[in-house]
Formats: sequence, structure tokens, C-alpha cells
Amino acid sequence: MNRPQVQPFLHKQSSTWTYVVHDGKTAAIVDPALDFDAHSGRTGTGSAGEVAAFVRDRGLKLDWILETHAHADHLSAAPFLKREFGGQIAIGRGIGKVQATFKELLNLEEDFATDGRQFDHLFGDDESFRVGTLEGCVIPTPGHTNDSVTYLVGDAVFVGDSLFMPDGGTARCDFPGGDAHVLYRSIQRLYALPPETRVFVCHDYGPGGREHRFETTIAAQRQGNIHVRDGVSEEEFVQLRTRRDATLAVPELLYPSVQVNVRAGQLPPAESNGRQYLKLPVT
Ligand SMILES: [Fe+2]
Repeated sequence: MNRPQVQPFLHKQSSTWTYVVHDGKTAAIVDPALDFDAHSGRTGTGSAGEVAAFVRDRGLKLDWILETHAHADHLSAAPFLKREFGGQIAIGRGIGKVQATFKELLNLEEDFATDGRQFDHLFGDDESFRVGTLEGCVIPTPGHTNDSVTYLVGDAVFVGDSLFMPDGGTARCDFPGGDAHVLYRSIQRLYALPPETRVFVCHDYGPGGREHRFETTIAAQRQGNIHVRDGVSEEEFVQLRTRRDATLAVPELLYPSVQVNVRAGQLPPAESNGRQYLKLPVT
């Protein structure tokens, strides 16, 4: 079987698309999001609960909870879903570099490991995996972050933030470890996939006020992506991306998100009063 069923869920707070990809019996969840109120510090599983209800109602067995990268705009709901259904929480091996960067930047506890051991599985470049009868493969797509990967499952790719919808272009490359040159080359690798490959994006902000969309094809991206389509050179893309990144503000949930996501979605260890806290560097 090479055409998986794909069920999208929109996390409205962060405009993140979460997917359940399955063969009718066995599933993987891609990029689940936790609700988070930055003012009160309260987390919630309202949105992830809708994903859980879908998996439960269909009686799906959950093999994988897949992160395309350590997100900087929402907290991962992977631990909540793992508690409900089991399955392995996985991310690309590049997470170690992201952990090292943020351990330093946020002065995380000394014994915070930067080898990715917080995750159940670290995918190497081009590693293959299975979701029931479906064949999957990991395509390294660094550039937005250096741990970014794309999951190819049957004829569907889950590209994380490497590509938005054609009219949304691409994600920023100015986070620590981001690199527009590297992103361009990663996108070329995606563009070498069969043109009919279904592309599922991790975010859509509804440019121009249109409804949120989540699915396109490699052919549509190559023809019409406003940042990288056939004929756009690496230099042209890097210039455009760099100019645009200079205008973007720090995402509201950058620090809360990365602190939790480099821990595979766990909150930081409790302090001496038994409570857990997130840090914010001030200058
Ligand atoms: Fe991202």
C-alpha cells in the first residue's frame, strides 16, 4: 500500500497542522501541538484531545509520534499522546545540535543531555521506517533549523517548515542553526521527488485572508512557490529570504517552545518547591 490516509488537524493558536497518517489500522502522528497560555503558564490538551479522539474512535494502533523539528512557535503534545496510546517519539538526529545551542543560550541544568536521549528514537539521514503496511523514509531537510527532517510515507511528504503552501513560500532561516543556503538545497531535494507527491505543510497562516490550507503537490510547488520555484537560483532565494527574515519579530512562544521541545515535550524538572518553570533571557 503506498497511498496512506491523512487526517489533518489545525492548532488554531499557532496555525500548526498536525496529521494522523494511517493505513486504517496503524498510525503515526506528525507534529502534535499542546495548548499554552503564555500569561498564566497553563498548558492544555484541548487541541491534542481532538487528535486523540480520532485515533481512539478508529481503533488505530499508534506506532510513531513524529516531530519534523524542535518547533519554536508551539509546545509539543507528544508526551500526552504517548501516555494515551504508546508509540515512539522520534525526531531527526540533528536535534543534538539544537539542544546544545539552547542549553548554552538558556543555561539549562548541567546534566541536560545534548545527545537526543530524551527522545525514543533519533532518525538518521534517509533512514526507513514503517507505519503498519506503509513504508516511510526520512529525508534530511535542514535550513529552517538544523534538525529539520521531512517524513516520506507512501506518496505523501510531511515537510515541516521546509515549505509552506505555494502562496506562503518558505519559513524563516534566522533561528540559531538556520541557513537559507542549506534550506534551498533541501528544497531541491524535495523537488526531485515525483511531481504528483502529496505535500503536507506544518503551518499555514492563510495569506491574504484566505482559508487555512494544508495540502499541495511537488508539481504545484515547483511551478508556483512564491520563494522557490523552478528557475529561482540559490542566490536569488537567499537574498529574498535574508531580506524578509530581517523584518520578522521573535515568535511569541520561542523560548517556552524550545525549552519544552528539546526535552521531547516534557516540562523542565521541578524546582525545590516542586513547581516547574520556563526561562526567559532578558537583555
Ligand atoms: Fe518551525
